[in-house]
Amino acid sequence: MSVSSDMWWSPWREAEGSLILHVDLRPDPDREQQALAVLDHDEQARWNRFLVKKAQRQYALCRAALRINLCERLGCPNRELSFGYLEHGKPFAKVNGAPADVSFNVSHSGQHGLIGFAHRDDFGVDLEVRTPGRDFEGIGSTVYGPRERLALAATTGRDQAVLFYRLWSLKEALIKALGTGFSLSPSRFEVPTPMLEGEPSAVFRFPHRPTDAFWLEDLGEPRFAAARAYRLPTEEAASSKARSR
Ligand SMILES: CC(C)(COP(=O)(O)OP(=O)(O)OC[C@H]1O[C@@H](n2cnc3c(N)ncnc32)[C@H](O)[C@@H]1OP(=O)(O)O)[C@@H](O)C(=O)NCCC(=O)NCCS
Repeated sequence: MSVSSDMWWSPWREAEGSLILHVDLRPDPDREQQALAVLDHDEQARWNRFLVKKAQRQYALCRAALRINLCERLGCPNRELSFGYLEHGKPFAKVNGAPADVSFNVSHSGQHGLIGFAHRDDFGVDLEVRTPGRDFEGIGSTVYGPRERLALAATTGRDQAVLFYRLWSLKEALIKALGTGFSLSPSRFEVPTPMLEGEPSAVFRFPHRPTDAFWLEDLGEPRFAAARAYRLPTEEAASSKARSR
């Protein structure tokens, strides 16, 4: 695989065994051509089916960056790497057809993407570029729970936009860690109270899966809201019970 030194991704956050890359998704025809050449036949066919140029670009640049970085981590050539998909579409990596021992998750919004790698099960990342001036309380009434809606109603203007996207990225990181996609309504769970009050991280449990604990962390920065979530192993979940209260 030949990729020039002009990489469109760079390390962004590294903590507790996970590395998150930032992917630069600004329009750049040369990069897009380079990225497209890294994709396999099925991925190129999917790229062709996108009707919106922005979505096409997000997909090609993120998927190629994912491929290149997975190959480096797994020590395999690009042609041996493929992807399988879980029931609700969450991709996982395969080398020569066998599932590889790595968790990853991808998110893209506007001109920014994130690719997270972890030696953790059920790992999810989410990124949301904040668009001002939307009907945040109206949208929130369909996707947020009662405490989240109250918190949103207590804010106005830019603070409301920041809170709306913070909650969105936290909830979507959890949904993506679980892998259920839209099949689990985000209004069926709420972010932990300490995080509603501004804490950057907390232990979380879905109401319908109270025995599974997830680590949830706000990674937002001025350019975008972002979050990561992963399922805690049983022993870590037990020792972090105190933190979740
Ligand atoms: C994929 C999904 C989970 C997120 O979609 P999205 O917001 O459009 O997209 P993101 O950019 O964050 O993530 C897309 C990436 O997630 C990965 N993905 C796809 N399905 C997934 C799933 N079920 N679980 C986890 N990751 C998934 C893919 O790598 C995808 O990128 P690709 O298509 O370029 O390969 C979507 O199907 C979904 O159901 N979202 C729930 C949205 C929601 O309810 N939000 C409200 C939060 S309050």
